[in-house]
Amino acid sequence: MIKPDFLWGGALAAHQFEGGLFGTDKGLSVADVLTAGSVDTPREITKGIVPGKHYPNHVGIDFYNRYEEDIALIAELGLKCFRTSINWSRIYPKGDEKTPSEQGLLFYDKVFDCLLKHGIQPVITLSHFEMPYHLATEYGGFSNRKTIDFFLRFAKTCFKRYKDKVKYWLTFNEINNQMNFGSDLFGWTNAGCLFSTFDNPEETMYQSAHYQLVASALAVKAGKKINPDFQIGNMIALTPYYPINCHPDNILYANERMHEKLMFCDVQVRGHYPNYALKYFEKQNFKLDITKKDLKTLKKGTVDYIGFSYYMSNVVDVSVPRDKGALTSGVENPFTTETDWGWTIDPVGLRYTLNLLYERYEKPLFIVENGFGAVDVLEEDGTCHDPYRIKYLKEHITEMKKAIEIDGVDVMGYTPWGIIDCVSFTTGEMKKRYGMIYVDRNNDGSGSLKRYRKDSFDWYKNLIVQNGKGLL
Ligand code: BG6
Repeated sequence: MIKPDFLWGGALAAHQFEGGLFGTDKGLSVADVLTAGSVDTPREITKGIVPGKHYPNHVGIDFYNRYEEDIALIAELGLKCFRTSINWSRIYPKGDEKTPSEQGLLFYDKVFDCLLKHGIQPVITLSHFEMPYHLATEYGGFSNRKTIDFFLRFAKTCFKRYKDKVKYWLTFNEINNQMNFGSDLFGWTNAGCLFSTFDNPEETMYQSAHYQLVASALAVKAGKKINPDFQIGNMIALTPYYPINCHPDNILYANERMHEKLMFCDVQVRGHYPNYALKYFEKQNFKLDITKKDLKTLKKGTVDYIGFSYYMSNVVDVSVPRDKGALTSGVENPFTTETDWGWTIDPVGLRYTLNLLYERYEKPLFIVENGFGAVDVLEEDGTCHDPYRIKYLKEHITEMKKAIEIDGVDVMGYTPWGIIDCVSFTTGEMKKRYGMIYVDRNNDGSGSLKRYRKDSFDWYKNLIVQNGKGLL
């Protein structure tokens, strides 16, 4: 049975929906210099804000000014929890200040109070691709050890301020995305630096990943001291790799590629680097700055639960060279379909992933992102019919239920991504919609920003009331 206190929820991230940049204390973040792109045109990372370019994150869906209305809507949906992030540059506009912005802190006080008033638990990511731009340009983001201190100061400020309002925390969103170090987007948003500008992009990636792992462990330790009841998790993008066939070389290769996801989780859950990673660093002759003190820190800052996103699975073939900048492997799976953005749809893969993680770590798991990005049509009468999304969610939740009820996996909660339509992370589009609440906002920034309930709204509401009954 799904536990009665199961955290049914929805997820978003500050930079993708808040807006509230101009006319506030908020500083620029790395997300604020990303232009709008599309499935074929990558988002540009500009030097500061360039007049005439379109930056969709500046307005998002204007949650900053509409949070009461939005929270009332998700309360109507019956959410038990709401995952969002604290925009680092709203609290420390440049990142290296000693004193936080009271205006920024107050905004989240109001948001959390409003959520709690509606009986909704906040689930808070400290860093969801929102590093202050100044830290990226002046310090090279996490390629610089100093950024650990700036992050820790930010984390402690949030923990202290919200210690009685927030119980569930996550440190770094999809910390393993930077393994796609061939893409500037992933390095920029994870680490605040452009790996391609370094002599050895891969080595720089591992170095900044190490500093983030240390920062995460220090934050866990500090958080537990501030409130021992905190539940602090990590967050991994868990796209499993399947071998193309049963050739032993492919089996081994798929296992090796899984290290791209699991290395981060191994460190954050077990408190030390796995041997396969140490051997790899040695073989590559990487000169990483990993001190004895860091290793002790990693041991002391392990997480309480594992948060992960699951959207798709990928197939790998040892004879197909890895594209070091891509989220997808480029090898087709004849047994799955895909979205308009080329992400495979594989509900059974979620059950597989839950089992994989639980068998490996025996820690509670929290599915903090899952969802179907699609083009939705708002009808003239204000309705929006999204049977494809209901199908996707139903199939995935059914597999989650099987993992819980048949396989005995401990799952704490499920927060589908983009519960209210927001700006897509990878493409910057509005038309790649995930929500159960439609927002009248278009790719070019036009639209009234008015909210409408989609068909999936009623479907999910009913599922929550039933606590997932009737799916199996
Ligand atoms: C995850 C991120 O990568 O996937 C979210 O944590 C993101 O920020 C989500 O929005 C879906 O990706 P996209 O590109 O479709 O918005």
